[in-house]
Amino acid sequence: MERPILASIDTGALSHNLARVRELVGNSRIWSVVKARAYGHSLKAALAGLGQTDGFALLDLDDARWLRAQGWDKRILLLEGLFNEDDLSSVIELRCDLVVHCAEQVSWLEKQSHPITVFLKLNSGMNRLGFTPDAYRLAYHRLHAQGHHVHHMTHFANADRVDREPSVGAQMECFSKTIDGLQGETSLANSAAVLWHRNALGDWVRPGIMLHGISPTGAYKDIEHAHLKTVMSLSSKIIAVQELQAGDAVGYGARYVAKQAMRIGVIACGYADGYPRHAVDGTPVWVSGPTDKTSGIICPIAGQVSMDMLTIDLSHAPWATLGTSVELWGKNLPVDDVANQAQTIGYELVCAIAPRVPVEII
Ligand SMILES: Cc1ncc(COP(=O)(O)O)c(C=O)c1O
Repeated sequence: MERPILASIDTGALSHNLARVRELVGNSRIWSVVKARAYGHSLKAALAGLGQTDGFALLDLDDARWLRAQGWDKRILLLEGLFNEDDLSSVIELRCDLVVHCAEQVSWLEKQSHPITVFLKLNSGMNRLGFTPDAYRLAYHRLHAQGHHVHHMTHFANADRVDREPSVGAQMECFSKTIDGLQGETSLANSAAVLWHRNALGDWVRPGIMLHGISPTGAYKDIEHAHLKTVMSLSSKIIAVQELQAGDAVGYGARYVAKQAMRIGVIACGYADGYPRHAVDGTPVWVSGPTDKTSGIICPIAGQVSMDMLTIDLSHAPWATLGTSVELWGKNLPVDDVANQAQTIGYELVCAIAPRVPVEII
């Protein structure tokens, strides 16, 4: 018998979410951000579900090569640009657009006569990648003089919150001032900006997490209004049931102690599958109902998550037994709700799905 864990990826939900992004962004074109195996959903599923996008944005040349091999003919953007000069020939062969974020990358492109489409990255306050406003215009002119097609890009640090600096407004002002008078298209918005700052879109938006139906803030209620659909469902089954007496403890460290007689369900999913070990007692797990027609209920985690298993309190699911289906996150339980209990964000959980978890693309 196969271990019952499975990640199901709904490509119809991906298509739906892309269509929702399109409605939200009007005439802006869309780079669908699919780095990190499409946020753990697999590039194969992304290609199947996001075929209507204007381009894919990712990190690795191998992923670009794979997309071209599948017949993807539209644009591909390498979000961190070249990691070394030798990769330029592959970039040309694979017809990739390049982010350029540092002086070394400009020097490499200055030696290249084949025109490349570049999104030049401005550091407008996030202080991660990009040129300072002073250095930006010089880099632009150097690339332009060499015959490359240069566009403008920046990335927001706080598009998902209003209480931090630099604000979206401050970063936009820096961006507008810096590119003033320079030709080229613009690209600014991640998912949070698409959702909440529609004055900050530019010619190309760059949504990632919202395409996967997950909130940039980590709170599912924040994206309910956007009517996005859940793409990944991580499911498994109960593989054992324990009957505890009051005072019995569960699992490593005896973290959970039964207050009264109760049943514990042991589920085939642990941190080696990508489930967060930091999940506290009370973290929700969805347990299917007694029949196919009844809806399931949420049962709380009881005890430390271990490598291959986790344990839940079945007090409110007396029907649950060996073989009962559970969902760790997905259509019945937003990944954001699980992430909250593990002090992380949905991004981290879906990206961390382990290679050993079988993936079903539907
Ligand atoms: C440069 C850049 N643009 C866009 C995105 C997509 O962001 P999100 O998944 O929050 O939409 C990312 C992801 O971190 C990014 O690094």
